[in-house]
Amino acid sequence: MTDFRKRMKASSSDKSLVILANDLDENRVDKLESRTMTNIKNLNKYLCAIKLNFHVILPLGKKSLEKINQAAHDVGLQTIADIKLNDIGNTNKIAVERLWECGFDAVIVNPIMGPENLKELVKSVHKDGHGIITLVHMSHHEAKLGYGLRVKDSTGRTLMLHKLFLKWSYSLHVDGVVVGATVPELITSCRKKIRGNCEIYSPGVGTQGGDPKKTLDAGANYLIIGRTILNSNNPIYQARKFQKLTLES
Ligand code: XMP
Repeated sequence: MTDFRKRMKASSSDKSLVILANDLDENRVDKLESRTMTNIKNLNKYLCAIKLNFHVILPLGKKSLEKINQAAHDVGLQTIADIKLNDIGNTNKIAVERLWECGFDAVIVNPIMGPENLKELVKSVHKDGHGIITLVHMSHHEAKLGYGLRVKDSTGRTLMLHKLFLKWSYSLHVDGVVVGATVPELITSCRKKIRGNCEIYSPGVGTQGGDPKKTLDAGANYLIIGRTILNSNNPIYQARKFQKLTLES
């Protein structure tokens, strides 16, 4: 098992399978930093990791990101940069190096970059114990239009794009795959294919309509949850509720 998978296991077992999508809509850097720090302080007991998207990473900059990643690590949380990276090998390599310099543990990437590129990236990410998670099927309502497209693989076989992404992902030894909570039947079929060789990360619970219990029963290992916690009148109550559910699963 890779180092990142081990760290996720350690930070989640007996604690929580919830990853906070810290998607704050805030353009003042000082407020963005302080609100993120408050979320880490108030919610860490109910989480195993925190995920920062592009729109949060961009305004913050290296100094703030170092501070945030350190604060998360100090309370036992893993940190994931959700930049859905998809570029040529050289650019991918530099991009992840910059993320590691800021203290992130893992990155989310888009396998549309192709298997050779992905293989190179997996190698570079694993070299120093970081993690790589690939998109297989997103959670939003239009996801099927893209991820459900019929494509041909290198042998000429026709299959759906998400099946090809899954095949590349587990055969190239990524640490996790993202499959939306809005497609639980797909979570189940992915779980069978993966056979414990990586974990399933599921966003789309709550606001996007996914049911947390059904998602876990279908085979998701981690729930990625943003607005249902962040926009609630009582984020601690919501986070604790999700934590309890994951502990019972
Ligand atoms: P909400 O507010 O809907 O936030 O709970 C969900 C979070 O998950 C992200 N998201 C994805 N991230 N692959 C990803 O890497 C996906 O397929 C996917 N679908 C949703 C979204 O950006 C938000 O942070």
